[in-house]
Amino acid sequence: MERTLSLVKPDGVKRNLVGEVISRFEKAGLKVIGLKMLRLTKTQAEAFYAVHKGRPFFDELTTYMSSGPIVAMVLEGEDAIAKVREIMGATDPKEAAPGTIRADLGLNKGENTVHGSDSPENAVKEIAFFFSENELIEGER
Ligand code: RTP
Ligand code: MG
Repeated sequence: MERTLSLVKPDGVKRNLVGEVISRFEKAGLKVIGLKMLRLTKTQAEAFYAVHKGRPFFDELTTYMSSGPIVAMVLEGEDAIAKVREIMGATDPKEAAPGTIRADLGLNKGENTVHGSDSPENAVKEIAFFFSENELIEGER
């Protein structure tokens, strides 16, 4: 069992795609074990995407990620990290495989509808960024 963090980004929330995104994860057998809607401040977005600090798109990315509400969720399942990345598709919707969230719903490389953790280390960090342990529902239900 593995856990990962996914976000419905501002463009997804704005276009009423929250249910659509969650539905795709659930249909793949992943379980939602934590869920919340919130709006990041610019400073929080900079902290969340700190690995990209110094990259040319950092300011645009963090301005965008703090431009409106997002939905944060923790997904649990076998190979959850890789599964979510596969369901999301490549960063640029133009390059994403057909049938992926970004190919079907993404607008452009920045407004690409979803985020998913890219490694076990980052999943742990990113889950802790949004959720405390007692906000995660585990096990039988
Ligand atoms: P994410 O972290 O959001 O799941 O996306 P990712 O792993 O597929 O892509 P990453 O390289 O981590 O980039 C994070 C986000 O930054 C924006 N970006 N813009 N304009 C650009 O060249 C550019 N490159 C990246 C995207 O919103 C990307 O999802
Ligand atoms: Mg990334």
